[in-house]
Amino acid sequence: MMSAAAAIGAGLYRRAQTVLRTGRPEMADRTFVSPVCRYVDDGRVAAERALFRRFPQVLCPAADLPADGWCARDIGGVPVLATRSAAGEVRAFLNVCRHRGARLVAEGTGCGRRAFACPYHAWSYGTDGALRGLPQDWGFPGLDRTANGLRPLAVAERAGVIWVATDPHVADLALGPLADELETLGFADHVSFMPRSFELAANWKLMLDASFEGYHFKTAHRDTIAAMFADNVQLIDEYGLNRRLYLVRSNLSAATTEAEFAFREHGNAIYHFFPATILLVQRDHAQLTWLEPLSPGRTRVFDVALIPAPPDSEKAAGHWRRNVALYRRTLAEDYALMESMQCTMTSGANEALTFGAFEFAAARFHTQLESELKHPAKS
Ligand code: FES
Ligand SMILES: [Fe+2]
Repeated sequence: MMSAAAAIGAGLYRRAQTVLRTGRPEMADRTFVSPVCRYVDDGRVAAERALFRRFPQVLCPAADLPADGWCARDIGGVPVLATRSAAGEVRAFLNVCRHRGARLVAEGTGCGRRAFACPYHAWSYGTDGALRGLPQDWGFPGLDRTANGLRPLAVAERAGVIWVATDPHVADLALGPLADELETLGFADHVSFMPRSFELAANWKLMLDASFEGYHFKTAHRDTIAAMFADNVQLIDEYGLNRRLYLVRSNLSAATTEAEFAFREHGNAIYHFFPATILLVQRDHAQLTWLEPLSPGRTRVFDVALIPAPPDSEKAAGHWRRNVALYRRTLAEDYALMESMQCTMTSGANEALTFGAFEFAAARFHTQLESELKHPAKS
């Protein structure tokens, strides 16, 4: 019997051949508009940031949290502390002291801590989050220590990434079948390479709009990657709020047989995890990118390459550096466009942005986002 991954590959192969033969990308039955107010309203950003807290967000690549290690990082302004036990179990907490709310640990990473002592009055917590001790505890008669451990967060280690929900009311992280698929591709064991973060002067959704179509490659990326891809051929599959876009490479032709077709050889796959995490799977590695909305016109962008093993030679390091450099040069072309678009949003030229019938992944994303903002899932 065919494996799930092989079945997906066979389906993609046949769809790609149909698109190449007909010369028409897969399409929805109509166009779609997204009002520009969604990209510029101050009030919306607060609602969007609250929404982010309910969904899986990236804390760090899994390899950056080794056994017996910890990682403290703010996600969307929420201080998070994660620990991994010597046996490998990952836990996450709000990085907030239960006494009077001091931040427990400064942002950073480390190994070998047995406990975390608050810098204010020295309440101390184990790596399992339990309240271990407090000076002069006779001053807190009736304090239930078991109810005053660090507030736990839902956490998952999937596809080489530590994911957390920063809303402590979220009980479970649903990453769905796309995370399983990434694990079959081997990402659970990958390591991080050349991480960076920076602020982009554009709304976070502009970046996703650009990630959901290859229509712009021929123009915007004519000097970088356009020649590597078939023009405007993206095969899109939705899994709940998440989706995979398979961007067909120009090395796939009518002469390529199904037996010759290889998922990572004949295309790049963009895995989108709602709301704003993208894993771009390439031939021999991936690029993980995630976004944090700061204001209508500002976004913090994080990206890191996930590679199969730490480079063991200058030659290997050079290979990965060249790959990351091409990725960043390509993305810089997108970022320049997004920053210029952000300035046009309030010009009055457009009341709404128009998405073509083959740009339907963006349309679906906006529809889902509107729905989640209006009808938040019960928690
Ligand atoms: S606020 Fe942490 S010990 Fe007082
Ligand atoms: Fe692009």
